[in-house]
Amino acid sequence: MATTMPQSLTAQDAWKNLNAHYEQIKSKHLRELFAADPQRGQTFSLEAVGLYLDYSKNRIDAETVSLLVKLAEAAGLKERIEAMMTGEKINTTEDRAVLHTALRAPRDATVQFEGQNVVPDVHAVLDKMSAFCDSITSGQWTGHTGAPIRNIVNVGIGGSDLGPVMAYEALRHYSNRDLTLRFVSNVDGTDFAEATRDLDPAETLFIIASKTFTTQETMTNAHTARTWLLEKLGADDSAVAKHFVALSTNAEQVAAFGIDTDNMFGFWDWVGGRYSMDSAIGLSTMLAIGPDQFREMLGGFHEMDQHYRTAPLEANLPVLLGLLTVWYTDFFGSQTTAVLPYDQYLNRFPAYLQQLTMESNGKSVTLAGDRVDYDTSPIYWGEPGTNGQHSFYQLIHQGTHLIPCDFIAFAKSLNPIGDHHDKLSANVFAQGEALAMGKTREEVLAEGTSEELAQHRVFEGNRPSNTLLIDSLTPAVLGKLVALYEHSVFTQGVIWQVNPFDQWGVELGKVLAKKIVPELQSADAPLDHDSSTNTLIQRYRSLK
Ligand code: F6P
Repeated sequence: MATTMPQSLTAQDAWKNLNAHYEQIKSKHLRELFAADPQRGQTFSLEAVGLYLDYSKNRIDAETVSLLVKLAEAAGLKERIEAMMTGEKINTTEDRAVLHTALRAPRDATVQFEGQNVVPDVHAVLDKMSAFCDSITSGQWTGHTGAPIRNIVNVGIGGSDLGPVMAYEALRHYSNRDLTLRFVSNVDGTDFAEATRDLDPAETLFIIASKTFTTQETMTNAHTARTWLLEKLGADDSAVAKHFVALSTNAEQVAAFGIDTDNMFGFWDWVGGRYSMDSAIGLSTMLAIGPDQFREMLGGFHEMDQHYRTAPLEANLPVLLGLLTVWYTDFFGSQTTAVLPYDQYLNRFPAYLQQLTMESNGKSVTLAGDRVDYDTSPIYWGEPGTNGQHSFYQLIHQGTHLIPCDFIAFAKSLNPIGDHHDKLSANVFAQGEALAMGKTREEVLAEGTSEELAQHRVFEGNRPSNTLLIDSLTPAVLGKLVALYEHSVFTQGVIWQVNPFDQWGVELGKVLAKKIVPELQSADAPLDHDSSTNTLIQRYRSLK
């Protein structure tokens, strides 16, 4: 079904109204907004599917929310969500459907794509993955020498790495500590060398994770892994079947690599790389936490999907998060968003979100093919608290950039030791408060600070943040969190009228690198790049 393009964004009344409203609210301080409404902390908070979002420390009032919701309505957000979840080919530049939500649909659900219910296929792969995990953990699956598998090395990059490594770190508490998991992504040989240097090949299984099975980095690492394994074992190609499995949509290339397609776990064209951690690409996660907890994670994803699909826009977590991002990006001119999880297990969550958000909405052309005349995806970045506080928070508090922050906090620690968790949590609440309220010159002087120093110790405040406060980090909660951001990204993409599901921007560099590899390997192949690139290549040749 053809998608009808909405009117140009900046020409819409909803956009113009937001612009006018921005002029009214831009100089209001959060101190004033809190003083005006003693219930503000409750008014601008929302609890759904077990996640509590406090968005009261944003530079908004009730009218802002209502105008942002009108913008979403004008963009046809509800219809676009339905189009996505019912298998319409909304990824028009690649002529594909976008059905990652089907990956977490319950067994008895129906999701039609091209006249077929895809849910049985999804569960058939999940069942095959579960059986495989059981055979590894029970020791029934053995390597070439008969030794059980104790080491799992996931070889993949981008969506075939960031989701798995993030989930492994996030759910380590729930993981089988008898298995060692490693992740190799970079084509830098150091990544492979360091990940495998202490592993016994007889006990090592490589998971080659690549949707296309053509990605340069992953195929290079996969070939290196095969050579490493066969040389160390002194075995021939027959050992590959016991030590390599593939996660891919490309059976032909998997077979060409030498992996038996019986040892391949498939997924589909309609799963984007950065939306694939809950597909077969999650095999390392399932091995780590076991099939039951993996299904709990899928259940969490699904709960958020249902919430996104059914909740009214103004009471919809991903919609609110997405609209707030649009608000700061396009009206306040914010260029970045910080994601600050106060949980060490979420240390790779910001890195995971970087691909999800920026590969999705880092676009400057609309679905209709026009250059946008507004900003799209902000730059996402972050580190777990409290480490970030002793590094870059200075700039968030007193620098010249307005950086909206997403704080992610948990009421219960998975490792309750002494009063660590209260101290950690006190810090996250303190940061939100300090950013919002700041500290005036009068307050600084009243503390006895000298006139000369006072200005340096003033905190302007009025710096916005969201706080997600969640009971504890479980597999289901991780699923909800990831789905929350997936759908926030979709919401932003719908408003900005871009396609969040292609990534043409990664192609040019890939093509040029392919051309340059043989030029580096030759001493005198002629070079026809710009003078900078030619000189760098010549210098590299003379130094290597
Ligand atoms: O960086 C581009 C990209 O295509 C990502 O979108 C994808 O997640 C990654 O490369 C890996 O691709 P593949 O799974 O096909 O190896």
